[in-house]
Amino acid sequence: MTVGFLAVEIIKRKRDGGGLSEQEIQDFIKGYVNGTVADYQMSALLMAIFLRGMDTKETLSLTKSMLHSGEIMDFSAIPGFKVDKHSTGGVGDKTSLIIAPLVAACGVAVPMISGRGLGHTGGTLDKLESIPGFNTQIDLKAFRLLIEKLGVGLIGQTQEICPADKKIYALRDVTGTVESLPLICASIMSKKLAEGIDGLVLDVKWGSGAFMKTQAQAEELARSLIDIGKGYGKKVVALITDMNQPLGRFAGNSLEIQECLDIMENKPGFPDTRELSLRLSAEMIALGKNISVAQAHQLAEENLVNGLALKKFREICKAQSGDLAHLPKPKCQLVVKSASDGFVQSLDTEKIGISGIMIRAGRAKTSDTIDPTAGIEFRAKIGDSVRAGQPLFTLYGESLSLLQSAQEQLRTCVHISLQKPATPTLIVKRLE
Ligand code: URA
Repeated sequence: MTVGFLAVEIIKRKRDGGGLSEQEIQDFIKGYVNGTVADYQMSALLMAIFLRGMDTKETLSLTKSMLHSGEIMDFSAIPGFKVDKHSTGGVGDKTSLIIAPLVAACGVAVPMISGRGLGHTGGTLDKLESIPGFNTQIDLKAFRLLIEKLGVGLIGQTQEICPADKKIYALRDVTGTVESLPLICASIMSKKLAEGIDGLVLDVKWGSGAFMKTQAQAEELARSLIDIGKGYGKKVVALITDMNQPLGRFAGNSLEIQECLDIMENKPGFPDTRELSLRLSAEMIALGKNISVAQAHQLAEENLVNGLALKKFREICKAQSGDLAHLPKPKCQLVVKSASDGFVQSLDTEKIGISGIMIRAGRAKTSDTIDPTAGIEFRAKIGDSVRAGQPLFTLYGESLSLLQSAQEQLRTCVHISLQKPATPTLIVKRLE
């Protein structure tokens, strides 16, 4: 730590709208990781950044400090292009669970570092950990072996890789400091740059269930993420995608694992999750194999339909000690019904995500434990016609009283009117 570093002075400067130097940001992050900066001080700085923002130079310094808080993996000894995908977060956003095995099955290595639920959104780590025994905290040596052997591994930030994001991510989740462009950029890119990848595909979401509520904000975030990645010599592509309604049929950890298994087993009924997974996979495979996105899409579809993606997913579970045969099932369910006739006009997807936290599908405090079986099934999506008394949602979980506590809030998340609305466009733009 440099002489004269005083956390409170840095907090006050950002609070008052001033700029921070690279050294100050680095000292603060180092101090937080080694314990000399307290949780409450980091929380205060995060809120100051949330309210005052950061310029491009500060955002880059934050990303760099978080990246260098741990090791940067080097997979150059493993032949071929390494690629990953990251989403800026949504409700029911489970595509990583299909994409990672599918892209690896197509012969492109995927060393994936993911996060837990953040704010009202779900997290890949929580979904994976709903599989009994699945270990997302393996050490670097074991992770490298997985990439060599299977071409894919799925882990979280650890003490070795991105420890700064591990701590800050958990704090942002419970301090109202998630929806900030510089904090999202630094969080995502520090993890992804630590992975030793050559290319990255970003799923940048916009809408009522995303952190970026407008398409323009999502494009601004995508541009910043792309610029940071390219600054580090990576190939980066971003798709701007819809999050005005939950993705797929379920949100909730083991329920989403089951939805992905159903898709990989070619069961019908999940068109949006399937399509988005294929489109993102195609972008990754195109980067990895230097072929057109159309050729890559065809390859991805073949490997989904022929069962190789499912086989790879089973291999990952086995290698990371997950017992897929005992995926927990919810004990209770409760149907939320429509009070009127009409068409589903819009959904308050963020509030749906918060209802998920109320039934323990996510955390309200860092110390909260998740019910892996808790979640929501979406029985009516935007544009669907409903009649009074028809189901809008089914809630699942281990406690009926908790499900009852979310019932009224969920009903207010659906806006029904007599006019049929346009269906939202799933993928609105591609940026590189
Ligand atoms: N995903 C992350 O890893 N971090 C964020 O801040 C948002 C989405």
